[in-house]
Amino acid sequence: MSKIFISCALPYANGPCHLGHIRSTYLPADIYARYNRMIGNDVLMVCATDEHGTPIAVKADKENKKPIEISKRYHDMIVKDVESMNISLDNFTRTTDKAHYDIAQNFFKDLYEKGLIYREDLEQLYCDNCNKFLPDRYVEGLCPVCGSQARGDHCEKCGKALEPTELDEPHCITCGNTPKIKDTYQYAFKLSEFEDELKEYISSNENLPANVKNYATNWLNDGLNDWILTRDMDWGIPVPLDGAEGKVLYVWIEAFLGYISSASQWSKQSSSKWEEYWNDYVVHFIGKDIIYHHSIFWPGLLTAYGCKLPDMIYAGEFLSLEGEKMSTSKNWVIWIADFVKDYDPDLLRYYLTINAPLNKDSDFSWDDFQRRNNDELADVVGNFLHRTFVFTKKYFDNKIPEYNNPSAEDEEFRQAIEELPDRAGELIAKYEFREALLEIFKVAKKGNKYFNDQEPWKAVKEDMNKAANCLYLSNQLAKTLAYTLKPFLPTKADKIAEIMNINTLNEWKDAKVTLPSGHEINKAKPFFKKIEDKEIEAQKAKLKENLKENEDETMSDLITIDQFDEVVIKIGQVKQAEKIEKSDKLLKLQVDIGEDKPRQIVAGLAKFYSPDELIDKKVCVVANLQPAKLFGTLSEGMVLATGESGALLSPDENGKVGERIQ
Ligand code: MF3
Ligand code: ZN
Repeated sequence: MSKIFISCALPYANGPCHLGHIRSTYLPADIYARYNRMIGNDVLMVCATDEHGTPIAVKADKENKKPIEISKRYHDMIVKDVESMNISLDNFTRTTDKAHYDIAQNFFKDLYEKGLIYREDLEQLYCDNCNKFLPDRYVEGLCPVCGSQARGDHCEKCGKALEPTELDEPHCITCGNTPKIKDTYQYAFKLSEFEDELKEYISSNENLPANVKNYATNWLNDGLNDWILTRDMDWGIPVPLDGAEGKVLYVWIEAFLGYISSASQWSKQSSSKWEEYWNDYVVHFIGKDIIYHHSIFWPGLLTAYGCKLPDMIYAGEFLSLEGEKMSTSKNWVIWIADFVKDYDPDLLRYYLTINAPLNKDSDFSWDDFQRRNNDELADVVGNFLHRTFVFTKKYFDNKIPEYNNPSAEDEEFRQAIEELPDRAGELIAKYEFREALLEIFKVAKKGNKYFNDQEPWKAVKEDMNKAANCLYLSNQLAKTLAYTLKPFLPTKADKIAEIMNINTLNEWKDAKVTLPSGHEINKAKPFFKKIEDKEIEAQKAKLKENLKENEDETMSDLITIDQFDEVVIKIGQVKQAEKIEKSDKLLKLQVDIGEDKPRQIVAGLAKFYSPDELIDKKVCVVANLQPAKLFGTLSEGMVLATGESGALLSPDENGKVGERIQ
């Protein structure tokens, strides 16, 4: 028996889970974990939310909230999402837990005391407008390697991890300002000292998948720089050194340690030692965008600390949506919470696994989802199970019949069933989840063909032994399907087990053991429903609708001339002005804008002007604003003035009352 440490990459707590998270990380980790538990391995599967760093700080700034409020909100959502997909994590913690702070600070101190972290004076980007340094995602610009739009910490296009100062044409994402370079100091890790060890690690590890190996080898061949581990920021884990006030640990160094802190918190509750799992076999499931971090930074840190390196890094490639790159900012995305409202999570688990191997890009499309559900889950597996159970009830009183004098076809089919668990199991053990599922479906298809060929509905009248053999074997396959599908479709598998009166699907080896003749099963229920065209049309429409709504909201700051033209601004002249009772901000104005009668406009000018000062003043008025009531007073337009100082926009003497500004 082995002990296996499985981790899922820590999701940033700045948004809920979408299909991409499930595909690249949670689902493969869960399939692997469930299978290993079934073959008797002792599994510890952990994760946590990654709550520090600029992703959360930036979001908090935008919403005018504290970072911890944002991360708590999304932590709670992510936990629900992961549970709703039946991801069997043993522990899911937060990087804002006290235990995590302790572990991260101690780790940093350990490396510092070993002389592997040193103080370095350097120049970093600073925004004069926002009065702060701009670490990581606070800046955007062009990637120095491939020239595409990139964030300060990372280029999505070519996968390179970056320093903000490396960006071409940088700008502050808060205010758009071009940042300047300013002196500061940080603490850096002597990553370059570990180049040889890392090369050895990557080249000698036979099992690492090709994408990880190739990326890592290329980067290592370029040579490694030391790695800055701290930031000038408020949000984060304080650097545990004297003289480092105002500095926090870079989110990446401590996020890795989330694997450890989640495991060690689990240890405390379970009286098992997480170290035993780590020292036996470690596998990290990650998305392809963070291969650099996991194949270079993390093994570098672990070597420095003196800890065993991960045995396996499994990196899922990208998932697109309807052929387009997913984008949370454009809302081109399907959220897990929305998906599971409409469909059984197992349908998604099936689709995401079968659609492409993990090491290839994959696409989610609603039409294809429908096709696979209807033609594969419903028609192949659902149909096979249904006819087996219905027939067993009708002709064999719900009992598994005898198996006697098998024909050559019977034996051939029996052998295919017997071989399935080992074949599928070997593939799962090699992380070839799609291939394993294909094997299972191949045998299920065979089951349908066998059933058709044996024609048990005829045989019951002509050759009862033949019918009995057919139903005996069909029930055996149904049971084998329940076991082998369990890691992939856990709830559907349990349903099969329930109908078949099998207690648990705990042990893979039982996938083979035959159900005894005479074993009684329960009444059949349908397993998979066909998905109708109109449902799919509605889903597609919803997706497009979301995209549009969102475009309107977050469209760039630029507007077209037509949009500007919709605003009618005219020159007006104030005829009357008076205070509005109980309001210290508002004045009620009557403004002539060249129409039959003056407009009544409520303006927030009381703090800046007395009513008398405004009489006869020429102003600019938005004339086509929907009327509204302010403090119970009707307002039929807006007088243009700045918000902070109340400076009125007044036309020069050429402007005539009623003239439009354009
Ligand atoms: N939060 C990071 C991301 O989504 C991943 C952190 S993984 C860990 O890109 F290794 F740091 F845990
Ligand atoms: Zn700025």
